[in-house]
Amino acid sequence: MNIKDINKLIESAKKARLNAYTPYSKFKVGAAILLKNGKIVTGANIENVSFGLTNCAERTAIFKLISEGYDPKEVIGFSVIGQTKEPISPCGACRQVMSEFFSKDLEVVLANLDGKYLVTTLKDLLPYSFEEIEDER
Ligand code: THU
Repeated sequence: MNIKDINKLIESAKKARLNAYTPYSKFKVGAAILLKNGKIVTGANIENVSFGLTNCAERTAIFKLISEGYDPKEVIGFSVIGQTKEPISPCGACRQVMSEFFSKDLEVVLANLDGKYLVTTLKDLLPYSFEEIEDER
């Protein structure tokens, strides 16, 4: 991705973050997915009084992407933003869900609200991911 795409992803995630539903943690997170044609799909975290039912921003964005019929092969970038000292890092569950749909080389932008960000890849976020199941023996 070029710097323009990176900035577009960060700004989109930042905007989506404002829609987070976080009455319990008060910790808002936004995510954005960039497709080859420039289209952006966003997500925010959505909590529940039964805490374990919380959906992270990253998974909200991915589930929207898939349920709205976009082709995950067209995805060229992913971003996540939250108010952390260092750029926020996605939880293990979200990394696994990302690896279900995206290439290992997908560029992932981790950002915070102070303008700090880093660009990494899905491969670096989830090495040795669980990928295949075998037939019953
Ligand atoms: N959260 C995300 O949405 N994404 C992350 O990468 C880390 C954590 C959410 C889940 C919960 O609503 C809140 O942040 C605190 O963990």
